[in-house]
Amino acid sequence: MHTSQNCCNFAPDLIILAEYAQLSLFLINLNMTKRTNNRIIVAIDGYSSCGKSTMAKALAQYAGYTYVDTGAMYRAIALYTIQNNLTETQLINALPDIHISFRHLHDGQHVCLNGVDVEAQIRTLEVGNMASKVSPIKEVRRFLVAQQQQMGIDKGIVMDGRDIGTVVFPNAELKLFLTARPEVRAMRRFKELQAKGENPVFEEVLHDVNDRDYRDTHRAESPLRQAEDAVVVDNSDMTKDQQIKHIINIFNDHIH
Ligand code: DC
Repeated sequence: MHTSQNCCNFAPDLIILAEYAQLSLFLINLNMTKRTNNRIIVAIDGYSSCGKSTMAKALAQYAGYTYVDTGAMYRAIALYTIQNNLTETQLINALPDIHISFRHLHDGQHVCLNGVDVEAQIRTLEVGNMASKVSPIKEVRRFLVAQQQQMGIDKGIVMDGRDIGTVVFPNAELKLFLTARPEVRAMRRFKELQAKGENPVFEEVLHDVNDRDYRDTHRAESPLRQAEDAVVVDNSDMTKDQQIKHIINIFNDHIH
C-alpha cells in the first residue's frame, strides 16, 4: 500500500523518473523538441490502456504545451469515495469539498486530492474500477468537465480522456482517437501492474479491460465514442517510439 505524499514534500519515484528521462532523450535525439506559437487544443480520446497518456505527454513535451490527464481526475474522485466509504448520494453532496489540482515535477505530472499528492494511490486496479463506477454519475462529470474547460481557456493544451473531443472541447482543433486490440491493452496493463509490484492474473486484467470498455461505451452520460472529425490511431502493432513519431507527424501536418 502506498502512503500519501504531501504536495510540498515529495521524493520522486525513480522508475517513473527514468522513463520520463528516456522519453525526453528520445525526443531530443530525434531533434523533435520544439516550441510553437500556433497554440491549439489537442483532444486525445480512446479506450483504457491504449497509451493515451504516454502519447499525450510526449506530444505536450514536443509542442511545449500543458498536459492534462482527465482520467487522473476521475481516479482522484474514486479514491476520495473509497477513503470516505461514500454512497453515490453522499459523493454528490461532497463534491464541493473535493479539490483536485496538478503539480508538475521533473518526473511528470502528479494529481493532488485536497492538497495531498495521490499520484501513486490512484493507479491501482481498485481505484481504476471505482473510477469507472463514479465517472458515469452526471454530477461528477459536470463538476470535472467545467474544471477541464477552464484549463483549456488559453489553448496550448493536450488533454486526454474519453469525452474530450466530444464534450469537453467539441471545437478542439485536433482530435485523436486511440485504439488497440483488447489483448494488447490487457498485456500492457498487466506489465504496468507487475512493474508496480502488484501480482496480477492476465485473464482478470483482460476481463477488466473488456468490462471497462463496455461501461465506458454504454453509459448514459458522455459515453466514449469517436468524434466524427477525429483521426483514428490503432497502435496495436506499433512500438512506443513509432506511435510517438506518428502522432507528432499528425500534429505537425495539422498546424502547418
Ligand atoms: O484513463 P483512466 O483509466 O485513467 O480513466 C479512469 C476512469 O475514468 C475510466 O473508467 C474512464 C473514466 N474517464 C471518463 O469517464 N472520462 C474521462 N474524460 C477520463 C476518464
